[in-house]
Amino acid sequence: MIKSANLAAGAVILVGLFGAQPGLSQDKTVDDGVFTAAQVASGQTVYNSQCKPCHNMRFYRDTLRSWSNQPLLYLWENIMGTMPADNPGSLMFEEYTDVIAYILSENGFPAGEATLDPDNGMDAIKIIAP
Ligand code: HEC
Repeated sequence: MIKSANLAAGAVILVGLFGAQPGLSQDKTVDDGVFTAAQVASGQTVYNSQCKPCHNMRFYRDTLRSWSNQPLLYLWENIMGTMPADNPGSLMFEEYTDVIAYILSENGFPAGEATLDPDNGMDAIKIIAP
């Protein structure tokens, strides 16, 4: 596995902090088809090997509840910085993104045309409770 996420993580977090202006309109939610079916499929593979051993889907449902109304990008950054707990930041950006798509899909949110992308609009997608 290429450990590219560690290096690039800092840059993305800076963008996350300074790119989020107060009053920025968050006109989308995770219910608006913000990830593709292909992302869900590859996310499932990552999830099964990297996330499933320590959490069940119920845990993610509770997480989405407690993160509701926050930008999806913040959850992505949090997961990337702390998970997998035994090797944080060890996955590639895309793998973290796909895992989130899979978790959203398993919690009943629909896939759509848009590709979920932490560098493109993910700060304007709001988490809502499943
Ligand atoms: C080695 C065990 C382990 C693995 C593997 C693991 N986690 Fe965790 N995870 C933890 C522990 C421990 C916590 C903190 C305890 C808690 O919050 O209940 C945690 C917390 C979390 C949280 C809560 C964050 C918050 O602040 O609300 C999320 C979301 C999460 N993990 C997602 C993931 C994802 C996604 C993966 C796969 C990429 C993953 N975890 C892999 C052990 C693990």
